[in-house]
Order: sequence, then C-alpha cells, then structure tokens
Amino acid sequence: GKTYEHLLVSSPKPGVGFIQLNRPKALNALSTPLILELNSALRDFQSDKSIGAIVLTGSERAFAAGADIKEMKDLTFSAAYGNDFIETWSDLVTFLKKPLITAVNGYALGGGCELAMMGDIMYAGPKAMFGQPEIKLGVIPGAGGSQRLTKAIGKSRAMECILTGDNITAKQAGEWGLVAKVFDSPEECVNGALATAEKIAGYSQIAAKACKEAVNKSQDLGIREGVEYERRVFHGLFGSKDQKIGMTAFAEKKKADWTNE
Ligand code: CAA
Repeated sequence: GKTYEHLLVSSPKPGVGFIQLNRPKALNALSTPLILELNSALRDFQSDKSIGAIVLTGSERAFAAGADIKEMKDLTFSAAYGNDFIETWSDLVTFLKKPLITAVNGYALGGGCELAMMGDIMYAGPKAMFGQPEIKLGVIPGAGGSQRLTKAIGKSRAMECILTGDNITAKQAGEWGLVAKVFDSPEECVNGALATAEKIAGYSQIAAKACKEAVNKSQDLGIREGVEYERRVFHGLFGSKDQKIGMTAFAEKKKADWTNE
C-alpha cells in the first residue's frame, strides 16, 4: 500500500483497516497535510471491498492535541472563510459509510476531540483526556465540537467543558456516555477496538452500512421521521442476498456465509 508521512496504515485483522496517527513531535496535531493523508487512507479503506470496519487511534500520549495551532496562528478571516479552512475535515464523516471506531489514549483536545467524536463508536484508555480548549486560544471549536459534544453529553456539561476549556477524564467520559467503553490500559483500548471492528467486519457489509446510516439519521431527524426512515431501510434489506443468507442460516442452524450483496 501507500506510505504516509504522518500515518501508519495496516490491516492487522481480517476485514479490519487500522490507521494510527503518527506525528509524535507535535502530539499528532492535525495539520492540513495530516488531514489530507487521513482522508486518503480512509477513502482507500472505503473503496477496498475486503475491509468491513476501520479503527483510528493515536499514540499512548496523544490521540491528537488539536488542529495545528502554529499553522492557524497567522490565518486571516478572508483566508479561513475564502478557502473554507477545516472544510476537508467534514469529508471524513460524509464519505465514510463503513463503521469507524476511534480508540483514544492520552490527549484528545480541540480538533482531536472532534476527530474522535467523528467515530461511530468511541473507546477510551484509562488516561484519555477529552477537551475543547479553543476558548483559551480566543476561538471556538471549529470541526463540530459544539454540536457533537452537546449531543453526546448534554448541554450543561458541554457548555461547562467548552466555556471553561477544562478537560473531561476517561472516567467521566465513560459515565457520561461520550465513549462506549473505558479500558484498563492503552493496549487493551486499541485491541478492544480491533476486536470490535473484526466482529463488525464478520457481518454483511450491506447490513453494517444500513445500521450506521439508520443510527446516524437519529442525529438529524425527529422520532417519527426517524422510525419511518428506519422502516424504509429495513424493508429495503429484503432485497439483499445477505438477508436470505442470514435468515436461512439461522433456520438451518448454520453459519451465515455473507456475500455483501
Ligand atoms: N498544534 C501545534 N503544535 C502542538 C499542538 C497543537 N495543537 N499541541 C502540541 N503541539 C506541540 C507543542 O508545540 C510542542 O512542540 P515543540 O516541542 O516544538 O515545542 C509539542 O507538540 C509537545 O507539546 P508540549 O510541549 O506542549 O507537551 P505538554 O505535555 O507540555 O502539553 C498539551 C501537552 C497540554 C496537550 C499541550 O501541548 C497543549 O495544550 N496543546 C494544545 C491543545 C489545544 O489547544 N488544542 C486545540 C487546538 S485549536 C483547534 O483544535 C481548533 C478546532 O476546533 C479545529
């Protein structure tokens, strides 16, 4: 595969794509070149038919310490607005239809927290530290933090975090449901994410895609339209081969052999 300056990319388990942010000198600060590489690696996994789920992680010390402050320091309004600064970040969630698990150890601050929250499932190690410290720099979150954190943990807690710039510990993140699980060590966090990704990759890719699509709709739609949307997608799956395969295998007490069709 390709080689990257700021990423390590591999497939350590069947069906699983693995991306490790690798810019240790800057605590994985998310510079534009890094984000472009990340987009490219995710796009490759998206189009690779052998990949069913993806894990994104950083290092033990930092998932990512935010957007690159040194790169942003001299940015003007007209350059930021005119060139849609940060726009490339939104790509990550819009084109990626395969499940993404973010495994967070160490700092996930600012854009790092926002990137972690773009994961469909978030896992944390014991020393994960989430925060939106942009207020300390005279700005606000710019890659979805004010929206996703609020949806995840509620308005009062999100306001406190974003207005004070104080961090949220792994323990709090677990209790508040920001992350699905908190692990006892950084290795267990990454291995747990890989195991979950392998499990998901073992199902029909069609079903996994539809699950992700339906759950994501709940973030945008009211309950009535959301359930209606779910019902349409559910009905649609009776047109797939994998529905016949899955239900026949159950009835015959056999293991389903998915076709992703
Ligand atoms: N951008 C650029 N460089 C960064 C960085 C960032 N976000 N975070 C850390 N670095 C660099 C440091 O400048 C330092 O580089 P040098 O060795 O060249 O000086 C190196 O990484 C190591 O960092 P520290 O020496 O600061 O390490 P520490 O252990 O003392 O502190 C830290 C760690 C608390 C995470 C601290 O680095 C920090 O506060 N970083 C900035 C966090 C932040 O404000 N993030 C939000 C950015 S704004 C944003 O993300 C906007 C958005 O919404 C899109």
